[in-house]
Amino acid sequence: MRLRSVQAADHNSFFGHQADPEAVRMGGYTPRGRKENREHWLSLLADPTVNARTTWVDDLNAGHVSAWTHNEKRQIGYVIAKDFWGQGVGTAALAAFLDEEDHRSLWAFVAHDNVRSLRVLDKCGFERADQPAQDTSDAIHVAMRHDAAATRPAEAGRAQQPQRDPDIQELSRSTA
Ligand SMILES: CC(C)(COP(=O)(O)OP(=O)(O)OC[C@H]1O[C@@H](n2cnc3c(N)ncnc32)[C@H](O)[C@@H]1OP(=O)(O)O)[C@@H](O)C(=O)NCCC(=O)NCCS
Repeated sequence: MRLRSVQAADHNSFFGHQADPEAVRMGGYTPRGRKENREHWLSLLADPTVNARTTWVDDLNAGHVSAWTHNEKRQIGYVIAKDFWGQGVGTAALAAFLDEEDHRSLWAFVAHDNVRSLRVLDKCGFERADQPAQDTSDAIHVAMRHDAAATRPAEAGRAQQPQRDPDIQELSRSTA
């Protein structure tokens, strides 16, 4: 597993990952339509405060990890393609991302019954924040916070050490 820059075609893969019914149920979110998803990614990539990375496994797009600022909180989110679940990819991707993303505190708002995601966050050093759960129209979300310097969980050693690939160009902001 390695993280790389988001490429022009990646939003097509991201659309399928986030639209999977099991991912939707697990994540407790409303999936985006194809056009909405494409516009979403183009707006993220046009925003210099957003840090978005593609999770790349064996030459395949296996999802993404991103950070953005909302309500003065630096938040993270991730979706891994279902074919890769349970192989340590989510943990390795988040651990690698925490090495790259300097901002602390980092926040994650997670459906309270998303045990996989809560486990990934726990392994990567996030802790339950002292905040009331938020009851959205999709799910009850709990707040998780990462304050300390990034620590790499032992489990992430299963995956290949991630590294930036300078040869891969960022998605052109002008790409339609
Ligand atoms: C959540 C998600 C990122 C996890 O990715 P992943 O690659 O499967 O994660 P990993 O394999 O690194 O780790 C999953 C952990 O959950 C554990 N797990 C899986 N099913 C579980 C269950 N039913 N109960 C408890 N733990 C469970 C695994 O055992 C593993 O922990 P371990 O390494 O200690 O054994 C992925 O399932 C996903 O993208 N889901 C849909 C979108 C989503 O929920 N995004 C997060 C929104 S906050």
